Amino acid sequence: MRALAWHGRHDVRVDTVDDPEILNPRDCIIKVTSTAICGSDLHLYDGYIPTMQAGDILGHEFMGEVVETGPKSTLKKGQRVVVPFTIACGSCYHCGKHQYSACDNGLPADNQDIAQELYGQPMSGLFGYSHMTGGYAGGQAEYVRVPFSDVGPIVIPDGIEDDKVLFLSDILPTGWQAAENAQIEPGDTVAVWGCGPVGLFAVQSAFLMGAERVIAIDHFPKRLALAKRFGAETINFEESAVYEALMAMTGGIGPDAVIDSVGLEAHGFFVDNVIDQIKKSTFLGTDRAHAIRQAIIACRKGGRVSMPAVYGGLVDKFPLGAFMEKGLTLKTGQTHVQHYMPALLNAILEEKIDTTFLISHRMDLEEAPQGYKMFHDDQNEVTKVVLKPGFN
Ligand SMILES: NC(=O)c1ccc[n+]([C@@H]2O[C@H](COP(=O)([O-])OP(=O)(O)OC[C@H]3O[C@@H](n4cnc5c(N)ncnc54)[C@H](O)[C@@H]3O)[C@@H](O)[C@H]2O)c1
Ligand SMILES: [Zn+2]
Ligand SMILES: [Zn+2]
Repeated sequence: MRALAWHGRHDVRVDTVDDPEILNPRDCIIKVTSTAICGSDLHLYDGYIPTMQAGDILGHEFMGEVVETGPKSTLKKGQRVVVPFTIACGSCYHCGKHQYSACDNGLPADNQDIAQELYGQPMSGLFGYSHMTGGYAGGQAEYVRVPFSDVGPIVIPDGIEDDKVLFLSDILPTGWQAAENAQIEPGDTVAVWGCGPVGLFAVQSAFLMGAERVIAIDHFPKRLALAKRFGAETINFEESAVYEALMAMTGGIGPDAVIDSVGLEAHGFFVDNVIDQIKKSTFLGTDRAHAIRQAIIACRKGGRVSMPAVYGGLVDKFPLGAFMEKGLTLKTGQTHVQHYMPALLNAILEEKIDTTFLISHRMDLEEAPQGYKMFHDDQNEVTKVVLKPGFN
């Protein structure tokens, strides 16, 4: 089959590779019909995520048709499914608490050591996202093996096009969980850093959860315009000082809740960001954490910090004093996708949530390298690339 493989920093290629096979009784094989490139994939593309190997197949946002099932899969051939990016067993202690991204059994036994060493405990598996998260082949391919197919994939009713439901795989539940973690109360003002797909779904979700005002921050005019379309007020961080603007907009109090949907590749010419960049390039640091630092400083006293954004390693200059003195709460994590999928599918079917507005480009899987380059180089124009095998 054809699949998009990582070969190094800024080097991804569509290769011919072996077709996936059923390995475990609960597996199924999916023929991919749509798969998206995620902001998280850019962290791989830029070489920020350790334990990648040349030839690894990328992609964790995908859907398709079931073409083969293991004896213990509950799916049937021909069903259309969206697959959560988190690989979880459904029956361990954490899955029992619906904390699927913390599943104890998502990683193959021989892949557990790295996460154990780095994070204290192994995490759930992730599709197409390095060997630290299981080394699973991803879904930017014609076919993909889905472990625990009796737990993860959600069956899509006939007649609903892929583009409406594809984002159930990751960014829609991620934006939703981000807003839920912000513990929004009616009347709240919520500030969202980053108007990429995650930030834009967080904006929509925050309003649905009762926020009175949402303030969205980015520097790409087209992304800010999308946030405005959902009712957000906006700050362009290249035109205004963010902290000062937020204070002016909230009567000097600060937002009730802040959401970091930027992550470890913060843009902008800020002192801490420049130091992070120097540390990163001299192997003294891993993440550029400007957005979360700024969000903590801007948050009101007693407010809530939600961090859907991905960070990988160690961060310094973290405003721990401000965090403590102001009595803030922080909630974060990879999304417990399986937990949110059913309700969000209903919200899509009932047209309460708009998803297709995000897609700026649809391309053939064969054009994936070009899709990565565009999404990386021109974030103003390119908000989301969806790849469809055989599109042309
Ligand atoms: N928790 C999860 O399970 C999960 C799932 C999906 C994505 N993510 C993470 O969420 C983050 C966002 O994902 P995305 O797909 O929206 O990515 P994206 O790269 O498309 O968007 C990030 C946005 O942040 C903006 N930005 C950069 N620096 C900024 C700054 N200093 N202030 C304000 N905005 C700034 C960028 O201009 C861009 O629009 C990434 O870190 C991604 O890895 C997490
Ligand atoms: Zn993603
Ligand atoms: Zn589990």
